[in-house]
Formats: sequence, C-alpha cells, structure tokens
Amino acid sequence: MKNYKKLGFDSKQAKDLVESLNTLIANYHVHYQKLRNYHWNVEGHSFFELHEFFELEYNAVKLQIDEIAERIRVFGKKPVSTLKEYLDISTIEETDNSLNSAEMSTEILKDFETLISLCIDAHEKIAKEGDLATSDLLIAYIKRTEKSHWMLSSFVK
Ligand SMILES: [Fe+2]
Repeated sequence: MKNYKKLGFDSKQAKDLVESLNTLIANYHVHYQKLRNYHWNVEGHSFFELHEFFELEYNAVKLQIDEIAERIRVFGKKPVSTLKEYLDISTIEETDNSLNSAEMSTEILKDFETLISLCIDAHEKIAKEGDLATSDLLIAYIKRTEKSHWMLSSFVK
C-alpha cells in the first residue's frame, strides 16, 4: 500500500508535479488575458455571440487558475505569480487588440489546442506519481476545453 501522506510532500516529487502545473498557470494566464482583450474588442456581426463566449471562457479559466495555484500550495510550493513570469514561461502568445472576429476565433482555437496538449503532458507526469486529485482536475480541464473547442470551431465554420 502506498503511503499517501508522502504524496507531493517529498521534495523531488513535489518539484516534478509543480513544474508542469506552473507551466499550465502561465499559459492559462496569457490565454485568460487574451479572452478579456477579445471580449472587450470584438466587433462585427458575431459580436453578441463571441462577446458572451469569451466571457464564459475567461470566467471558467479564472477558476481553473485558482485551483491549480492552490494545488501547488498543497504541495508546499509557490505558484508563479507575476505577469513577467507568465510571459516568460508561456507558449501561448499575446496579441494586440486589432484582430477581427475571425482572427480572434482562430487564436482562441489554437490556444485551446495548446492547453489540451499541456494538460495531457502534465497528466502523464502526474499519473506516474500517482497523484489522483491533480489528475482529476486535469481530466476535467481537458474535457471542458475539448467541448469549448468543438463549440467555437462549429460556430466559425
Ligand atoms: Fe464585460
């Protein structure tokens, strides 16, 4: 039987778990700010749908960021917490506020794909460590983001 009390509290194990979670936080933060940017600046005939969709997404992402950061604290480590670190670490890149609605949708679909890949990568590491609780969070994020990807890609067809 595994000693569950050791989970994530052994410093080598915690370091492995936290590294990929911090990468996720950084990417989610840049993605979050893009969603806010597009929520504010979208224009054109799909304004109402996209304005609302981007808001639903950034509210969901905000909760996910908080869950991941607090999971890191459970392991006795600190989450990345500054905008500078997010931009340094993140694979997802910012855009300015001049995109048209089709370009915004393309950006967000690309972000969804990056985020799903990052969650799958993190899940692989975490499953190896036997961390069921973080695994459960990541599976929920993958499921939610795949659904959002389906909805947005259907909308822009
Ligand atoms: Fe708003």
